[in-house]
Amino acid sequence: MQLTVNGTEHDVDVEPEMPLLWVLRDELNITGPKYGCGIAQCGACTVHIDGMAVRSCQLAVGDVAGGVITTIEGLGQPESLHAVQEAWIENQVAQCGYCQSGQIMQAASFLDFNPAPTDDDIDAAMSGNLCRCGTYPRIRAAVHAAAKKMQEV
Ligand code: FES
Ligand code: FES
Repeated sequence: MQLTVNGTEHDVDVEPEMPLLWVLRDELNITGPKYGCGIAQCGACTVHIDGMAVRSCQLAVGDVAGGVITTIEGLGQPESLHAVQEAWIENQVAQCGYCQSGQIMQAASFLDFNPAPTDDDIDAAMSGNLCRCGTYPRIRAAVHAAAKKMQEV
């Protein structure tokens, strides 16, 4: 099966029912997306398919093989971070960090569809991405900051 991940084509020999998260982590060694709940309830495994945030723990790889898959590793590069990544660093959002790649991927996709969100918009969009460290106030501040950066570009 052919998969395009972060701009690179991969040939993977897996069953089509295998969850995308397993393929990314165990077959391709792309470990930014995390395993949290495994039942699409926490958001730790969030990646983009064709720009849309999705939960890779509950997506069969065979159903998404034709899509453009992006993980946190492909969102930006160290020398040219995505605006959301810059805002995350500037706001020192992460605590333990485990949920944060999912949070960033969710935020980046959300801002593509809502470039000038209110607090309520952000809370609604991010509420499904759980953070056991309770970084929600900093997530909200960073999403606002990223929105501003993206509008300035
Ligand atoms: S691990 Fe996928 S939503 Fe929790
Ligand atoms: S930063 Fe620890 S779970 Fe979110």
